[in-house]
Amino acid sequence: MASIVLTNVDKIYAGGVKAVNGLNLEIKDGEFMVLVGPSGCGKSTALRMIAGLEDISGGEIAIGDKVVNHLPPKDRDIAMVFQNYALYPHMTVEENLAFGLKLRKMPKPEIQKRVNEAAKMLGLETYLKRKPAALSGGQRQRVAMGRAIVREPQAFLMDEPLSNLDAKLRVSMRASLNTLHERLGVTTVYVTHDQVEAMTLGDRVCVLRDGLLQQVDTPQNLFDKPVNLFVAGFMGSPSMNFVTAELVRDNGVSVRFADITLPIPDSAFADKPGLDQYVGKKVILGIRPSDFEDAASAGNHANGWATLPVKAEVTEELGSEINVLFLIDAPPVEHKDTVAAADTGDDEEAALPLVGDKSLWTARVNARSHARPGQRIDLVLDTHNLHFFDPTSGLAIGHEANR
Ligand SMILES: Nc1ncnc2c1ncn2[C@@H]1O[C@H](COP(=O)(O)OP(=O)(O)O)[C@@H](O)[C@H]1O
Ligand SMILES: [Mg+2]
Repeated sequence: MASIVLTNVDKIYAGGVKAVNGLNLEIKDGEFMVLVGPSGCGKSTALRMIAGLEDISGGEIAIGDKVVNHLPPKDRDIAMVFQNYALYPHMTVEENLAFGLKLRKMPKPEIQKRVNEAAKMLGLETYLKRKPAALSGGQRQRVAMGRAIVREPQAFLMDEPLSNLDAKLRVSMRASLNTLHERLGVTTVYVTHDQVEAMTLGDRVCVLRDGLLQQVDTPQNLFDKPVNLFVAGFMGSPSMNFVTAELVRDNGVSVRFADITLPIPDSAFADKPGLDQYVGKKVILGIRPSDFEDAASAGNHANGWATLPVKAEVTEELGSEINVLFLIDAPPVEHKDTVAAADTGDDEEAALPLVGDKSLWTARVNARSHARPGQRIDLVLDTHNLHFFDPTSGLAIGHEANR
């Protein structure tokens, strides 16, 4: 096992595309690091440079204590798993697993031992004599993982390995990957465009945009303390609600937008140094859907929360929770960062209906709520959790990285 350290790494493709721009990233020994970002942001390029499949235009990559800039892939002691895993169709599962080790002239008993261990770990023992055509998609992906595991490499590099699987299988494979990582503890760099996958798998997550690192942190910190509008809008599902608002002083300080005024608690100012300098000015306000509750079904924990009367336009019942979609009488925020974050390249996400001068917001409330389309309800929210961004730079106000 080994750490992987990228220092000022650049990639400029022939033709001039700067796919990766001054990337600094330290992946700890044994860490599960996820690279996430919209399609084309440079995730695969970064991974392929670590693997040695792509030249580095500038900077340095070290695996363990060794600078590997000029080391061919086979000498880097890493194993890759791709979205399009190519298994050998004429070989059995067992032969597929053993093939790479045979090429390396490993003694037969050692090969057998490693293949058996990997098969056991991946639940493939009963399929060892089958050929890939007789396996399900998920089983095939397990064989592809198995081929990486038997190598016992210093690091796993995975590029969207679950993208070809259906939603249910992806969830169960995510769980298997988590278990596998706990068991083996091998340094892993995992690329995905799916922020849910990133949040559930990563010890830490590195968010990229246009080849530039935005933020590296634990999933919880990315969610609670996004460094800018882009990270705020990209991480979290449903996405954060945004509106251009004004900080005004009446009794205390409030944030005002459309016909709504929300008081800002003193604790928020304590948490966000510099926020006080925006009083009397415009900010972009962000509210996570999960920070709302339906007043009618909220428990005592919502005492003292601010109230937002709304009309439910659409409700999506998810079993344990309900998404309530409602309109805010203010135009959608058209900052370049919120627009970029909304473009996840994911076809599954339906386009928002055109609502003209109004913004469509989402509240995710407890399923005890009786909210139905067309109904007026009172939403409540914990104003301590409001997010504030500078309307010009898009940077989170009061975030330590921006001070
Ligand atoms: N072989 C290549 N030649 C030229 N441009 C490339 C090549 N591969 C990728 N790119 C460009 O580099 C950028 C980053 O691509 P990529 O790393 O594949 O992004 P991601 O994996 O995040 O979707 C994109 O603009 C893409 O078009
Ligand atoms: Mg890619």
